[in-house]
Amino acid sequence: MLIKDGIRMDGRKPDELRPIKIEAGVLYRADGSCYLEWGGNKIMAAVYGPREALPRHIQDPTKAIVNARYNMASFSVEERKRPGPDRRSTEISKVTSEALESVIFTELFPRTTIDVCIEVLDAEAGTRCAGITAAAVALADAGIPMRDLPVACAAGKIDGTVVLDLSSEEDKEGEADLPVAIAPRNEEILLLQMDGHLTYKEFEEALDLAIKGCKEVAKLQRKALLNKYKTFEVE
Ligand code: CDP
Repeated sequence: MLIKDGIRMDGRKPDELRPIKIEAGVLYRADGSCYLEWGGNKIMAAVYGPREALPRHIQDPTKAIVNARYNMASFSVEERKRPGPDRRSTEISKVTSEALESVIFTELFPRTTIDVCIEVLDAEAGTRCAGITAAAVALADAGIPMRDLPVACAAGKIDGTVVLDLSSEEDKEGEADLPVAIAPRNEEILLLQMDGHLTYKEFEEALDLAIKGCKEVAKLQRKALLNKYKTFEVE
């Protein structure tokens, strides 16, 4: 049983997020970076660029290429993961690159690449959402111009109830997982995937809940960026 009397196994209510901690600008050599803890997830994101795209034949004369690479450390999961890319990480890298590219003013940097490295150090479900959220802060920290700060959060269904931000148990045993990334200002959807089954009504409920979750996480992203750049305390 994953939920009893409206309380989940880890003590959360259906619409409650796991604890989240975000820190911007943690790496010296990256142009921008972010360290994020989200429940049991620990994620580092680093941004390099815009820099000349090499070899030259990959250059786009009209815009920058956004190249996100999602990678799981072999020690980040219960059963040791074979190092290097696999089908899952290739898919997550692709959808992450597309979500980020759609908010970046890429046309300002022709012939360049913007490289985004997402390293999952510890994984406990929802790593693609946590990765996008961390990557967005790292991009802002690198000073990359964007029309909004993307943010991601998942909703899902456990024991017939629609809930926010699935834990590892809930992800494994639950009925559905719906990761969503948005540009919070106009709620434009940048990523929408689904694992499992939902009725149309449940899907709408889960999407609304995920968007609400995204907006809560967006506040923490902004706080992390302000924390890095503030020079004095504002009462
Ligand atoms: O992490 P996310 O929910 O975005 O993606 P998923 O493919 O639904 O994976 C769910 C969880 O399964 C991950 O967060 C990991 O905790 C776990 N996992 C694992 O234990 N071993 C893998 N090779 C891949 C994922």
